[in-house]
Amino acid sequence: MSDAWPAVRDAMATARRVRRGDVSADDLAALLAGLRGRADLPPAGPALLDLVARAGAGPTAVAQLGQTLDGRIATVTGHSRYVNGPEALDHLHRLRALADAVVIGAGTAVDDDPSLTTRRVDGPNPVRVLIDPSGRVPAGRKLLTDGLAPTLVCGPARDGTETLDLPAGGASPRAILLALAARGLEVVLVEGGAATVSRFLGDGCIDRLHLLVAPTLLGSGRPGIVLPEVATMAGALRFDARRYPLGDDTLFDLTASAAKLPA
Ligand SMILES: NC(=O)c1ccc[n+]([C@@H]2O[C@H](COP(=O)([O-])OP(=O)(O)OC[C@H]3O[C@@H](n4cnc5c(N)ncnc54)[C@H](OP(=O)(O)O)[C@@H]3O)[C@@H](O)[C@H]2O)c1
Repeated sequence: MSDAWPAVRDAMATARRVRRGDVSADDLAALLAGLRGRADLPPAGPALLDLVARAGAGPTAVAQLGQTLDGRIATVTGHSRYVNGPEALDHLHRLRALADAVVIGAGTAVDDDPSLTTRRVDGPNPVRVLIDPSGRVPAGRKLLTDGLAPTLVCGPARDGTETLDLPAGGASPRAILLALAARGLEVVLVEGGAATVSRFLGDGCIDRLHLLVAPTLLGSGRPGIVLPEVATMAGALRFDARRYPLGDDTLFDLTASAAKLPA
């Protein structure tokens, strides 16, 4: 039980007011300093507060993937429920509750049919964003039909949803984030799957990457992050990392720095 969770959500609301100019950045910093001292933060609470601090400074994209020790996010058949244990799932739902919008690719909508709501924690449901450029996601999928939150589609128009207007040339991660920011959706969770997170990461569009690593080996299955090949370790992406236990899993809260990511 985390009594401080509502205060973390309130802090994110304050971060939004900082961006609108209604509250000073110093006030947000003082609020966060007070929260960091609380003993009743949720697990990985400091990672959530770091996200709030980042969001106070401007539009922010956080990506998550739940993966095994050998870097798999699903079996060969696409089954991924669940890679992680309950504490990590609670963390994912907290990320959803703090985000304005949650983005998934067509593959995840087809394989998992997620609702992308915050049912494991108290908090609002984010706007759902489906990247489906070829319109291959079946019409009955929950995020297209359940009405639990608005859904924006990057792709052909779908009944009951709005289409995200993108410049000619399509759905680049940067264009998607800019179009969402133009709607006031400035804190964005890129939830999956691997292809979508990899594209956003490879394009330098992710501010924080939350890798939720389970003490599990699959030895086969779908890989997590896949980026263009590099010949030497000099080409590796390196991050500043903080680690938090979440039940049996470990959250790696990875901060991208301009020096370490592609421009
Ligand atoms: N463990 C986890 O944390 C986690 C989270 C989510 C999903 N999953 C698993 O991941 C698997 C699905 O992942 P996936 O990598 O196959 O698919 P995905 O990332 O969900 O979707 C990829 C597809 O989305 C479209 N897309 C995404 N970004 C785009 C962009 N910037 N521009 C144009 N099109 C874009 C493309 O659709 P088109 O191919 O139609 O062009 C692309 O092929 C499932 O097995 C699911 O269970 C695991």
